[in-house]
Amino acid sequence: MSAGFEPFRIIIVGGGIAGLAAAIGLRSVGRKITVLEQSSQHKEIGAAISLQPNATKILEKWGLGPLLERKGGMPDKGFKMFSTDGTLKASIPFSRETYGADRVLYHRVDLLDALKEAATTEDGPGEPASIVLSSRVIGCDTSNATVTLVDGTSFSGDLIIGADGIHSKLRKLVTGSDTGAVPTGTSAYRIIVPTSQLIANPGISSFIDLKAPWTSMIMGHDRRVIMGPCREGKLFSMVCLVPDEFMNEKSSTDSWTSEGSTEKLLQSFESFPEWLKEIFRAAPSLGLWQLRDIQPLKTWVKDRVILIGDAAHAMLPTQGQGASQSVEDAEALQEFFSDIHSGPSAAEVNARLEMVFKCRYERVTLIQGYSRQQAGPATTENGQKITMNTLEFSDYNCGYEGAKKWLSTSSVGTTV
Ligand SMILES: Cc1cc2nc3c(=O)[nH]c(=O)nc-3n(C[C@H](O)[C@H](O)[C@H](O)COP(=O)(O)OP(=O)(O)OC[C@H]3O[C@@H](n4cnc5c(N)ncnc54)[C@H](O)[C@@H]3O)c2cc1C
Ligand SMILES: *[C@@H]1O[C@H](CO)[C@@H](O)[C@H](O)[C@H]1NC(C)=O
Ligand SMILES: *[C@@H]1O[C@H](CO)[C@@H](O)[C@H](O)[C@H]1NC(C)=O
Repeated sequence: MSAGFEPFRIIIVGGGIAGLAAAIGLRSVGRKITVLEQSSQHKEIGAAISLQPNATKILEKWGLGPLLERKGGMPDKGFKMFSTDGTLKASIPFSRETYGADRVLYHRVDLLDALKEAATTEDGPGEPASIVLSSRVIGCDTSNATVTLVDGTSFSGDLIIGADGIHSKLRKLVTGSDTGAVPTGTSAYRIIVPTSQLIANPGISSFIDLKAPWTSMIMGHDRRVIMGPCREGKLFSMVCLVPDEFMNEKSSTDSWTSEGSTEKLLQSFESFPEWLKEIFRAAPSLGLWQLRDIQPLKTWVKDRVILIGDAAHAMLPTQGQGASQSVEDAEALQEFFSDIHSGPSAAEVNARLEMVFKCRYERVTLIQGYSRQQAGPATTENGQKITMNTLEFSDYNCGYEGAKKWLSTSSVGTTV
């Protein structure tokens, strides 16, 4: 190493899907990447998550395909729509040909483990990222790119990435104001059950194929259930969306997450099929979230600091795009910093970050808005459809060819 060579020091606040994806995308010679994660366990919650084809493509480009498969990712075959009386109304196969990659179903724990492995393995570009657990960031001085932990330790870098989730500490420091996470009028129960337990019950298994990798949906007028297998079919996962006003759960308006009650869940889905209620009854526990998102921010960048993932654009899960958009953010960082392998100037970093922001903002904000729109009622009381269905938007969601291509072909690019 020649005299005067300084590594490009990157500090990532938060080791969730966004933070780890950024660590993987930015790994390269001459760089030192540190991920500061507040938790001591670094485990995801027990639930399923899907990655959309364009995020899959980015992970495949990074060489993670085999690793993710080994961790139990399941390519999704498409949507099955059931009516509230429990009969199958439509199967809409998902075509890998159309989008060039699969939509993949994961257990969140498995996806996080795979990303962690790819970020920290010796067997990758540049130095492995180091993940420092029990590191809760409470402050950030954007002028000298220094973050401070709750115990007073500080870390300085050339680039700080705020990937600290929907309740981001860095958001206010970057944008100057923060309205925080806003309730959106919908709550979600999350359920995950060992499939073997459900298959043994013919009252369930004769109505739905629990191991086949399809995303099944039952849409009521203002409530819906989205479900499917994960971890190679060993687990069956569901999300049940209910308007807050009909939650029947006392704490739902003032708390973010809690433990739900089976009885209340059954009440909310009274008019849904009996086989679905049998799954509810088999659930070992019920996670309950009041769904929140954030308003689009006016910027994600200040000095050498950028917000990505939920910190920048938390969105509702109605399109399953939150994690995928985080991976797309990470790819944009990779692309716009691809030629920097030693300590850059503050001005250089800021200019690149502004390009990342400019490139990502319009697309993410549209998907964020559409996810909110889709949380509204699906039909009027007399059954007329009043919002677009999931598929009608998927061409936009999935027709993304990476950050630089996007910037050169979209309207944001032509005004630069
Ligand atoms: C009910 C529900 C269902 C969802 N379903 C889907 C789905 O099916 N598909 C999909 O794509 N998305 C889904 N999402 C959204 C998705 O989970 C997120 O968009 C995605 O995980 C990106 O998150 P992130 O990494 O930005 O934030 P997070 O996952 O919240 O990670 C933030 C990380 O930062 C750490 N952290 C926070 N503050 C600090 C601090 N001060 N100092 C240090 N570390 C800190 C946290 O411990 C955490 O590890 C869902 C979300 C919810 C709530
Ligand atoms: C960054 O600036 C703050 C004051 O704004 C100062 O307290 C801190 O020591 C500086 N850190 C470094 C590493 O220069
Ligand atoms: C996203 O999908 C489209 C096709 O739908 C494809 O042309 C494009 O290359 C994909 N993006 C990436 C990053 O691979």
